[in-house]
Amino acid sequence: MKSKTLKLAILSLIGLGTVLHAAPNAKLLVINRNVSVEAKACIKCHADVNNGIVHDWRNSRHAHVGVSCIDCHQVNADNPMAAQNCEGVKGTNTFISPIVTPATCSKCHPAEAHE
Ligand code: HEC
Ligand code: HEC
Ligand code: HEC
Repeated sequence: MKSKTLKLAILSLIGLGTVLHAAPNAKLLVINRNVSVEAKACIKCHADVNNGIVHDWRNSRHAHVGVSCIDCHQVNADNPMAAQNCEGVKGTNTFISPIVTPATCSKCHPAEAHE
């Protein structure tokens, strides 16, 4: 259990390097819980594909609390926007959309659903 936590912490630090020296363990645990291996793969590959988007995201509150690309861009297979025109998800059970609707934000931000 302990070593698994450590391994996850190290993986998180690869993705979110700047957290390493700044954050106490409590924050690392939050990130570990939210950023899955699949979510890390999105960030890692898109750092080359969309450097600007990933850079902006890394500096955002969402990144700092472990909300990443997949949390906003993943949709159900039956969503009208569902696509796999992304080499990272092609042929998997993961479907993504370039458009993120207020319905997605509202899963976490009920009050901001109308923005
Ligand atoms: C908080 C939610 C959120 C997170 C986290 C997020 N995005 Fe987005 N993303 C959006 C929104 C909103 C748009 C604008 C699309 C729209 O007009 O609805 C967008 C647009 C995009 C687009 C399309 C841009 C274009 O101009 O065609 C790409 C590609 C993208 N995001 C990739 C990423 C990647 C890669 C990550 C992770 C590093 C990420 N996003 C994280 C919400 C998010
Ligand atoms: C191995 C690299 C790689 C991985 C991993 C990856 N992607 Fe992509 N993604 C791409 C490429 C390449 C494109 C196409 C870029 C283009 O054509 O402009 C793309 C496109 C996208 C788009 C835009 C789709 C559109 O219609 O414009 C979004 C959103 C996206 N990916 C999200 C994700 C998410 C979420 C994950 C993790 C579940 C992920 N990607 C994993 C390489 C990757
Ligand atoms: C998976 C959950 C999740 C999703 C989806 C999500 N957010 Fe967030 N968002 C959060 C969390 C958690 C925070 C941090 C709250 C805090 O500061 O304690 C946050 C913070 C924010 C903030 C404050 C940023 C700051 O700098 O203080 C804004 C604005 C915001 N979200 C807008 C959005 C919008 C717009 C969308 C949809 C495009 C979205 N969020 C999608 C979880 C989410």
